[in-house]
Amino acid sequence: GETDQRMSPRVGPLLREVARLPGDGYNPSAVSVFHQLVVRALPLMPRALVWRVARRYVAGTTLEDAVRTVRELNEKGMMATVDVLGEEVDEPERAEAFLEEYVRVYETIEAEGLDANVSVKPTMLGLVIDRDLCHRSLERLAEVAAARDNFLRIDMEDRRTTRATLEIYRSLQARFGAVGTVLQAYMRRTLRDIEELPAEGANIRLCKGIYIEPRSVAWKGYETVRLNFLRALQALLDREIYVGIATHDEFLLCGAEAEIRRRGLSRNEFEYQMLLGVEEELRDVLVGAGHRLRVYVPYGRDWYAYSSRRLRENPRIAGHVIRSFLRGS
Ligand code: FDA
Repeated sequence: GETDQRMSPRVGPLLREVARLPGDGYNPSAVSVFHQLVVRALPLMPRALVWRVARRYVAGTTLEDAVRTVRELNEKGMMATVDVLGEEVDEPERAEAFLEEYVRVYETIEAEGLDANVSVKPTMLGLVIDRDLCHRSLERLAEVAAARDNFLRIDMEDRRTTRATLEIYRSLQARFGAVGTVLQAYMRRTLRDIEELPAEGANIRLCKGIYIEPRSVAWKGYETVRLNFLRALQALLDREIYVGIATHDEFLLCGAEAEIRRRGLSRNEFEYQMLLGVEEELRDVLVGAGHRLRVYVPYGRDWYAYSSRRLRENPRIAGHVIRSFLRGS
């Protein structure tokens, strides 16, 4: 093995149980025992092993890697949004360094003539340690985006950040225009947030949501979240808000198609969005149908937290990690 292969006695039985489970196929309606075990076992895996499967979800560790990936996507008629990996930053100096990296991303997109905008996580710019610092940094990025005819997407993180993120989004949107954020269909507050959003110039990515939230704030059922996604999509479109429909769920894509058709929306009035390394066939289907599609392209050295969330969504791949760990390969 390339890394520490020892198992603590407490961990052993759990992992062996995981390895015995079939775990083939992805059946999201029934969050299986396999899934739950995989999710619990993943943090115990050596990083080198996780990287072997996680790297499909990221462009690489450098901006050059991201540029190469974006160029390939652009050649296939797809747009991109570039994300620097990192979150939960608790030192102002690191937050500042990430801010400078993001400025470099905007400069590079322009210099290389790429069809891409930028996505940023507020906790990477220090939201949790210092909201004002985060606000100022996002303001700087909104300014840079506007000056370069580009766009800033503020990603949505967990429930601690929802209110602050929406407030910062609203103030920057009003001032700079070229700013959007994200709403999560699993949040119970989302329909209300849509009602309260100033519709003028708004640009919202709608996704299911990936953080682990308590039932007091989030819908938990798989079908419930789907239902709320479609309701939120309707509410956004009713208000004539530009939506980035961010999902790989065929059921939702089917519902979205019907909604778009019924309203007679044209190509420029919305876009689809998907994550790098996920459901490439569906991407091609949407582009082939003449839709605009944007791929989320993360890069950087802090790939672990993001990739773990992706693996959590894909217990089959995560299961491979655990099996190869047990095989010692
Ligand atoms: P679901 O998870 O049910 O997946 C539907 C199907 O897609 C699965 O059946 C499977 O085939 C495939 N699939 C999904 N994930 C996969 C994976 N990792 N590997 C392989 N196959 C996979 N969340 C958030 O909280 N804040 C945010 O800012 C964002 N931003 C964001 C941007 C973009 C462009 C996308 C596409 C998604 C996000 N998300 C997000 C993540 C989002 O909340 C959600 O977790 C994922 O999109 C997965 O949900 P789906 O709607 O795809 O459904």
